[in-house]
Amino acid sequence: MKKVLVTGGAGFIGSNFLSYMVDKHQDWAFVNLDALTYAGNLENLKSLETNDRYVFIKGDITDTGLVSSLFKEHGFDYVVNFAAESHVDRSIKEPEVFLKTNVFGTQCLLDNAKSSWQTGKDGDGYPVYRDGVKFLQVSTDEVYGALGASGMFTETTPLAPNSPYSACKASADLIVRAYSKTYKLPVNITRCSNNYGPYQFPEKLIPLMIGNALEDKSLPVYGDGMQIRDWLHVGDHCSAIDAVLEKGRAGEVYNIGGNNEKANIDIVRLILERLQKSDTLIRHVEDRLGHDRRYAIDNAKITGELGWKPAYTFERGMDETIAWYLNNKEWLGDVRSGAYMDYYNKYYRELT
Ligand code: NAD
Ligand code: TYD
Repeated sequence: MKKVLVTGGAGFIGSNFLSYMVDKHQDWAFVNLDALTYAGNLENLKSLETNDRYVFIKGDITDTGLVSSLFKEHGFDYVVNFAAESHVDRSIKEPEVFLKTNVFGTQCLLDNAKSSWQTGKDGDGYPVYRDGVKFLQVSTDEVYGALGASGMFTETTPLAPNSPYSACKASADLIVRAYSKTYKLPVNITRCSNNYGPYQFPEKLIPLMIGNALEDKSLPVYGDGMQIRDWLHVGDHCSAIDAVLEKGRAGEVYNIGGNNEKANIDIVRLILERLQKSDTLIRHVEDRLGHDRRYAIDNAKITGELGWKPAYTFERGMDETIAWYLNNKEWLGDVRSGAYMDYYNKYYRELT
């Protein structure tokens, strides 16, 4: 039996992770702490609402009083920190909130985990923690910066973030590392590539392009569209985090990639082809400032050490993802129109 604090569980990856974990670990209990920013959507978690091993708490990870009281009430064994401002374009316009949530929020969670889990000190003055606890920080390959035409990111690639978003994620990684080195807090950091799949907020490339194509709106491709990302199905990301949580060696970083390097323009063309829409919807627009040209992940550590590997091919993942958005046009429409924001008021207020 494990008690798990999942932060940012109403977002894209967090909600997929909660659904996956509640089903997979039938004797574990989960608390989802989420501030419900524009990116948080409780409709993603409808299937868990009546599950007695799942609790939702609306709150901010920077609120140390709240986080401390949750640790006292629930006695968490694991923390999985997804909560973050996650969109590069927004970080270019408004960096401040990225620092607050991604850096100070992470430090607040670390501090509370440390004080809640500490049972004493060893002979050298280092804290000692109760058995079976772990803090897992969900990070990104973007902390490594951009690659040229060849090469891949390994866990020892130096950090060289280029956007305010990735700089804040890298800062959070470094503070997590510091808690591991200075206080010997049992931590793991995972750095994954671009995720895709159900419930992704449609400001990100794949759901944005699907939504626009369905409405016959133009598809904005930044610059020449030849930027390359590695694409990881969110289901594969969830199973990888589960593997790191259970088997990852304390203090280690694990890269998670899907072995699917694609140019943005090829993804956009594939979506148009599957939806039987014309290429004339493509519109090349001004490039993103500081746009990273290429990301690629070397998976050798997690596959070799933990036995994880991605189950999805890109073709299957994209077919299922496009089918999901076609079958969930109401969800997509509600998010695109902003109507999803009423869900908390409509449902959760009635419960309390
Ligand atoms: P998302 O933007 O869809 O969801 C983020 C969630 O965090 C939302 O539910 C939001 O309400 C919540 N949140 C934001 N600020 C908060 C705060 N101060 N307190 C509590 N909750 C808060 O993001 P996502 O795509 O699901 O990404 C999850 C994590 O994975 C992030 O840490 C992100 O950096 C990382 N990541 C994402 C990708 C990707 O492709 N989506 C790739 C690599 C890493
Ligand atoms: P995005 O989904 O924002 O993820 P990230 O910036 O974290 O990689 O963007 C993925 C790629 O798609 C990135 O190279 C920027 C590009 N892009 C576009 O060309 N047009 C768009 O409208 C968006 C949102 C992204």
